[in-house]
Amino acid sequence: MGKDTLTVTDNRTGKSYELPIRDGTVRAIDLRQIKVSSDDFGLMTYDPAFMNTASCRSRITYIDGDKGILHYRGYPIEQLAERSSFLETAYLLIDGELPSRSQLETFTRNITYHTMVHENIRKFIDGFRYDAHPMGILVSTVGALSTFYPEAKNVFDKESRRTELYRLIAKIPTLAAYAYRHRRGLPYVYPDNDLSYAGNFLSMLFRMTERQYVPNPVLEGVLDVLFILHADHEQNCSASAMRGVGSSQVDPYSATAAACAALYGPLHGGANEAVVRMLNQIGSAGAIPAFIEGVKRGEQKLMGFGHRVYKNYDPRAKVIKRLAYEVFDAVGRSPLIDIALELERIALQDDYFVSRKLYPNVDFYSGIIYQAMGLPMDVFPVLFAIGRMPGWLAQWEEMLDDEEQKIARPRQIYLGSGRRDYVAISERR
Ligand code: ACO
Repeated sequence: MGKDTLTVTDNRTGKSYELPIRDGTVRAIDLRQIKVSSDDFGLMTYDPAFMNTASCRSRITYIDGDKGILHYRGYPIEQLAERSSFLETAYLLIDGELPSRSQLETFTRNITYHTMVHENIRKFIDGFRYDAHPMGILVSTVGALSTFYPEAKNVFDKESRRTELYRLIAKIPTLAAYAYRHRRGLPYVYPDNDLSYAGNFLSMLFRMTERQYVPNPVLEGVLDVLFILHADHEQNCSASAMRGVGSSQVDPYSATAAACAALYGPLHGGANEAVVRMLNQIGSAGAIPAFIEGVKRGEQKLMGFGHRVYKNYDPRAKVIKRLAYEVFDAVGRSPLIDIALELERIALQDDYFVSRKLYPNVDFYSGIIYQAMGLPMDVFPVLFAIGRMPGWLAQWEEMLDDEEQKIARPRQIYLGSGRRDYVAISERR
């Protein structure tokens, strides 16, 4: 076994440099010493979209994209989906260890008693147009929470941080449900602290005139598992937004609003909505071959397929596919599942997808379940945001406690104009 170093020769100068390798990584800053002259800035790396750059050291989530493996704090996602609950998984992500019974009870109580939002938030939501996208409402209202909790700016005060963390996990379902009810023109339903996390969310979404809302136990259980499956996914676009914005030491509500905004995009958490729109557009199994040909010609993407990290079946998609049948048994089969299954079958036999290692990701089947549960498409990304909240918070705390981190500030390669003098508007051609 040789030394854990990398020797680089700069052919411009003939000089060689020995750079340390740690954890399979060289530090980009070690390249800065490589210069052609003393006034040269030094070598940088160029990595648009962070294709091969680690931005942090993390102990939260492990993914092996080639093997299709996902662990939270070392625990396989399949075991957590089978045996844990969402709040226990949230505790695990944030604290690093599974809780004892009393730790879980305290954690659950703390979340449960922070589910209400200030009445002004309701009024704020009322101000949105009747057809406002729930994700737009969520981005704004999560950010607005910072104005109710000014102490949240004390991001290095661990006790205050803990309270904000409970508030965020507790209030995001309330905001999400209010956004949905606003869209439907229905009265808002206050949280019911006698229900489970998922049960309370279902109550806030669907309760009408019942004195006591009793959630469907199958839907309650499935939703809890869906939240677990979405709870973290290491340095994805929204977690990177959370870390990047949080690195300015802004309060966690503002950082979470940025993370929600990142999640909203169709290439990220908006994909579940896009999948159902795509399946509706395809319409029938017979139309799949023509659709696939269009994808191969680059006319559209096969939404819910492909992933930056997974080059194998997304382990979350496997669990979700199974959950779909539990939901169908409880509320009836969605016709979209047959189109989705056939689409997956055809795509996984097609060289275009096989050669690019494009497999179903978490969003391929989740939208079908949400739709079967009676939720409209534009609420799907909001459900993703609820599940992802503990992950964002765990990533944010880890970033704040990491002495190697500073304000996130990438470099650029400037390709614009050289210095030039201002020209009066009357003299411009
Ligand atoms: N349909 C058709 N072709 C695809 C797809 C797709 N869904 N995804 C990737 N490809 C093709 C690309 O066109 C590219 O082909 P080329 O080599 O001929 O140019 C090749 O596969 C590699 O794809 P990239 O775009 O380079 O992969 P990248 O890692 O940048 O993108 C992403 C990953 C954004 C997820 C992409 O696969 C995609 O757009 N998928 C559809 C949207 C989606 O499902 N997003 C959810 C992701 S999971 C999540 O956020 C929860």
